[in-house]
Amino acid sequence: MREMPQASDLLEWYDAHARKMPWRIAPADRMRGVLPDPYRVWLSEIMLQQTTVAAVKDYFERFTARWPTIQALADAEDGDVMGEWAGLGYYARARNLLKCARAIATDLDGQFPDTMEGLLALPGIGPYTAAAISSIAFDQPATVVDGNVERVMARLFNEHTPLPEAKPILTDFATNLTPQQRPGDYAQAVMDLGATICTPRNPACGICVWRSPCLARELGTAAELPQKTPK
Ligand code: ADE
Repeated sequence: MREMPQASDLLEWYDAHARKMPWRIAPADRMRGVLPDPYRVWLSEIMLQQTTVAAVKDYFERFTARWPTIQALADAEDGDVMGEWAGLGYYARARNLLKCARAIATDLDGQFPDTMEGLLALPGIGPYTAAAISSIAFDQPATVVDGNVERVMARLFNEHTPLPEAKPILTDFATNLTPQQRPGDYAQAVMDLGATICTPRNPACGICVWRSPCLARELGTAAELPQKTPK
């Protein structure tokens, strides 16, 4: 049997290479028990859904300076929130953001749920966002699957089934690799690996911490994965 990719190896890489982002807690601090405010994790994840990290940073800083808590956002005027969102696009996200903030303020005493079920019941929170909040803000072993994670899994396991058909297969791989230790750092580590090393084009396989267990690296198929069904 060939060796499986180890979450512990990826975490070691992340400890040295984690990207700094205004909504993140550095791995050294998380290991001392510091967790991020779920409000900031939620806001960043909603903003990042169709927008790049670079574009989100300034919006995130302005939003959290103006509305530092979920209660503050829930009390905001619709027009002010839509105004601060202007330029980010996909405005349904901003409308759902307010709906969600008000639901949490009114029905949940301002506290974010820490379970997948509780999170999924809220407006604008689907499986991706629920898993991101649950793992990053509460260190629950939920599996985050975005485009980065799909690409990393397709390559690690040389999975040639095209997307979207491959989604459940890749989700299974990702679930099986998710560790019980430091699941929040692990979720962010896979995203960072996908964004900086296991990139769509010209992946940097030579310096990848998972190069030795990676089947696509061994077979030379990384650049052609994941496959996609033509639209
Ligand atoms: N893209 C979406 N969420 C992210 C996160 N938490 N870290 C890095 N990239 C992301």
